[in-house]
Amino acid sequence: MRAARYHEYGGTETLVVEEAPDPRPGAGEIRIRVAAAGVNPIDWKVRGGALRDLVPVDLPAVPGREAVGLVDAIGEGVDGVGVGDRVFGLGGVTGATAELAVLSAWAPAPGAWSDAQAGGAALAAVTALGGLKALGSPAGRTVLVEGAAGGVGSAAVELAVAMGATVIGTASESNHAFLADLGAVPTTYGPGLAERLAGLAPRGIDLVLDTAASGSLPDLVRIAGSPDRVVTVADYVNAGRLGVHLANAVNDSGLLAEAARFGAQGRYTPRVERTYPLDGIAQAHAHSERGHVRGKIVTLLQGAS
Ligand SMILES: NC(=O)c1ccc[n+]([C@@H]2O[C@H](COP(=O)([O-])OP(=O)(O)OC[C@H]3O[C@@H](n4cnc5c(N)ncnc54)[C@H](OP(=O)(O)O)[C@@H]3O)[C@@H](O)[C@H]2O)c1
Repeated sequence: MRAARYHEYGGTETLVVEEAPDPRPGAGEIRIRVAAAGVNPIDWKVRGGALRDLVPVDLPAVPGREAVGLVDAIGEGVDGVGVGDRVFGLGGVTGATAELAVLSAWAPAPGAWSDAQAGGAALAAVTALGGLKALGSPAGRTVLVEGAAGGVGSAAVELAVAMGATVIGTASESNHAFLADLGAVPTTYGPGLAERLAGLAPRGIDLVLDTAASGSLPDLVRIAGSPDRVVTVADYVNAGRLGVHLANAVNDSGLLAEAARFGAQGRYTPRVERTYPLDGIAQAHAHSERGHVRGKIVTLLQGAS
């Protein structure tokens, strides 16, 4: 198969597109012919080597944690899915940006989602849903999403609104119309946030989901009034010392199916800022690394919609 790969840890110059061995699904796994694979910060954090002690990978490695495509092989013990089904889902921390990828969690992709949308849905959806569930039920609550314009943040806004929350989202001003379109009341992150929120939510902020890892977590705890009302998916540095729950993405087919149900109802539509061809993988990583993606960026393979 053709795949994006890197043979050593390093910058985007390590990324090549070349022939690689076809992966095989193990017990409980499926293999898909990939139509589209999402690009996420974890891809370049792992590729750069910064996480090599925490998340070691075998080199050469195929970047990519999520994809959509048609099932082409089924591992032992898997039922409820057939060859030819269109599914989106999650594999290991690497492996998705290739013609073939193995998934260990998946769900049928809603027909309303293009391949680009479904290819960028899985990681953001399980992270956002996991974070919102860790906060308790968001229904009827006012929820602040810090970093609301990114992949996880934009999914969290739409999913929290779909669950019945009132959502305030932070982003730079150029993304405020985007946040309003997602269903959030937009405001700017950074100094003065508490004062801006006092005007936007006079009865206070009930719950906070941090997806930004910008160092704002102490301010977010003050805004919420207690660390119990805050969950971060991103701030590994400050969560422990502040007593804030850190929610990690899990390969959970149930969460993917829940996101797909919201998708089929038209209440959650993954937003894609830009797609790249497989040969543009280095540019796609560089785009993500700049830190200002609006929604998702996605690599499209042959035949993708
Ligand atoms: N724990 C887990 O399992 C897990 C899973 C997925 C992701 N993550 C982590 O969660 C974080 C977000 O992931 P992602 O995929 O959503 O990233 P992303 O799409 O690359 O996020 C980009 C967004 O960050 C916003 N941003 C930049 N600086 C900001 C700041 N100072 N305050 C608030 N927002 C800011 C940008 O908004 P503007 O352009 O408007 O500035 C942009 O929309 C990353 O650190 C990622 O590694 C963790």
